[in-house]
Amino acid sequence: MAGQIQMKRTRPILIAPSILAADPLGIENSIDRLENEFDWIHVDVMDGHFVPNLSYGPSIVSALRKRYSREILDVHLMVEPPEDFITPFVKAGSSFLTVHVEATHHLDGLLRKIRESGCRAGVSLNPSSPVELIRPVLPLVDLVLVMSVNPGFGGQEFIPYTLDKAIRLCQWREAEDLDFLIEMDGGIGSDNLMQIVSSGTDVIVMGNGIFSTPDPAGTIRNMRLMLKEEGSHERQN
Ligand code: DX5
Ligand code: ZN
Repeated sequence: MAGQIQMKRTRPILIAPSILAADPLGIENSIDRLENEFDWIHVDVMDGHFVPNLSYGPSIVSALRKRYSREILDVHLMVEPPEDFITPFVKAGSSFLTVHVEATHHLDGLLRKIRESGCRAGVSLNPSSPVELIRPVLPLVDLVLVMSVNPGFGGQEFIPYTLDKAIRLCQWREAEDLDFLIEMDGGIGSDNLMQIVSSGTDVIVMGNGIFSTPDPAGTIRNMRLMLKEEGSHERQN
């Protein structure tokens, strides 16, 4: 079973709150309430076409970049075709720009274009897409985002079979001496965090698992404690 395998960890765990679950009338206030406990800010861009929901355009990324000049802005493009949106989101100040394998016929060229434009390139997979689809482009990416819910909405239930993809990616990364981060996105919170981490995932995206708790900064601090305890357990063995 995927959840019982413990992958070897060589990279720190990064926590990326998704502002989709922040207060839409007070995103800045929601981020400030995190008291700098986060590692990255995750921005979900939805077009009402690739996914059945609408969210933000490049202006939100520009505004975040202006306000949080040194933070990593992890921009998840759920748009079709992604080719039309690379330049505006690069100019807006994205740090990582992640596109879906299902949304383009020209993934190789697109990932090269993102890197050439100065952003770090990510590729994402919907839950039902086999991880083998992206194996050829792994040398071209800085990040693989494994969707653990069907994209489009926050607050959905985690789909456990997606853990196997993180495990496979972790094995390929080690066997082929590649260097990308593995990110998981959707349905994650304090209750299943350790299971996700065991799969070899490096970056944990959480919307409601952070912003819908009474004390979002305290929630992240507690998660870090859980991770630390797990880390010391690993070292003793
Ligand atoms: C879904 C988005 C996720 C979403 C996660 O399409 O990509 O980033 O905001 O929200 P939670 O953590 O609430 O499932
Ligand atoms: Zn996302």
